[in-house]
Amino acid sequence: MVPLMKDLFGGAAPYYARYRPDHGDQAIDHLATTFGRGSSVLDLGCGPGTVAIPLARHVREVTAVDPDEEMLAEGRQLAANVPNIRWLRGDSTMLRTFPPFDHVVMGRSFHWMDRRTVLAELDELLPPDGVVALIGPGRHGAEEPGESAMQRVREEFAMGPMTATNSFQATGEHHQDVLATSPFSDLDSTLYERRLTYDLDAVIGLQLSYSYTAPARLGDRLEAFVQAARSALLASNPSGRWEHVTVTEVLIARRAPA
Ligand SMILES: C[S@@+](CC[C@H](N)C(=O)[O-])C[C@H]1O[C@@H](n2cnc3c(N)ncnc32)[C@H](O)[C@@H]1O
Repeated sequence: MVPLMKDLFGGAAPYYARYRPDHGDQAIDHLATTFGRGSSVLDLGCGPGTVAIPLARHVREVTAVDPDEEMLAEGRQLAANVPNIRWLRGDSTMLRTFPPFDHVVMGRSFHWMDRRTVLAELDELLPPDGVVALIGPGRHGAEEPGESAMQRVREEFAMGPMTATNSFQATGEHHQDVLATSPFSDLDSTLYERRLTYDLDAVIGLQLSYSYTAPARLGDRLEAFVQAARSALLASNPSGRWEHVTVTEVLIARRAPA
């Protein structure tokens, strides 16, 4: 078993909810069509409901699970008027304790988990036509707006990217590689590209939504970090506007036909 990493996103939840780009309507529609209107979906690692909230309109119910209480609080607030989401504190080691579900989706969260164990347990829990869906940047990585300026600031503050124990960076195995050797080896990948525009607050807010520069990790250096980021970003781009192309992958994994 790979140990889970604790307290990853301290203080990041409000920034995540406001500044981390969603996955786009087309990608959510793709999930909705795959799952079907009558289905019950587990959103594992739901964060502030980035997938759960738009998906809930299209399915019978969503069980949105996350270990981070701050993320759940953001989600509950954003979805105050969405009746068919059940928010639960929990994580990928507790799959057997959740109410039954027909399909599971993981948005930018699978890399935090013991992937093989999760897939083996899902094989026991999902019905025969149950789908494992991943949604996120996929193997295309996620270079960010203002990246070179932000990289210099992160280096100045000695804030390096955190590597999840079981991620591609740590193991050399992409999610697709892990799925291909799992019970859910029938894979279908679709890419959606969007051009997004960011202002200065959005670039900095995006940075604070990441685990490795989450406000709790910066501690009393938060204000200095934000000031340094402002200066570096404006020096590199005085217009204060960034255009960035984001690629979202929807990866649908089914059990291979017998
Ligand atoms: C980058 S956020 C993704 C939020 C949202 N699903 C999205 O698509 O943007 C990753 C989330 O995974 C959660 N997480 C981390 N380890 C987890 C685990 N072992 N099981 C379930 N969720 C986990 C974190 O608390 C965090 O909220």
